[in-house]
Amino acid sequence: MDFKDHIKIIEDFPKEGIRFKDITPLMQNGKVYKQAMDEMAAYVKKKDADIIVGPEARGFIVGCPVAYSLELGFVPVRKNGKLPREVIKVDYGLEYGNDALTIHKDSITPGQKVVIMDDLLATGGTIDATIKLVEQLGGDVVGLAFMIELAYLNGREKLKDYDIFTLMQY
Ligand code: PRP
Repeated sequence: MDFKDHIKIIEDFPKEGIRFKDITPLMQNGKVYKQAMDEMAAYVKKKDADIIVGPEARGFIVGCPVAYSLELGFVPVRKNGKLPREVIKVDYGLEYGNDALTIHKDSITPGQKVVIMDDLLATGGTIDATIKLVEQLGGDVVGLAFMIELAYLNGREKLKDYDIFTLMQY
């Protein structure tokens, strides 16, 4: 299946010069969405992960169905001020903007094998920050999985110490 047939490209969104990759048409098609999640789940299974971590909001769209299908736990990484209990926090830069990401302090057991999942790898800033959070809690990041990779933004370079799986590349 060519998953790219189900991604819409929107010019100059949310800012001029950005070619936004809209995954919602893929999600709207139940068969295509399931096949995409099945292929990502096969990767997570191969990495023998104990738990999945995903950054808000679109990381949940990918991470939760895969966690459910493999009967694994899912840990949300959220923007500052959203998680209700004790967190650790890291600042990060985005393709467009800056923010801080947080994770609950008790969400990872030291030594747990973690796969981090998101819809899109752009500059790698979000995932770099997510890796820092997981590793500060003692998690072992065994893989990173994305639906889409924007190869021209060189996110892989920033994440070169990690194994990366992507369904589509632009
Ligand atoms: C988008 C996307 C990734 C990140 C990729 O999320 O879902 O998480 O940007 O960019 P990067 O590789 O340059 O860090 P965004 O921060 O827009 O948040 P959202 O998922 O809540 O819309």
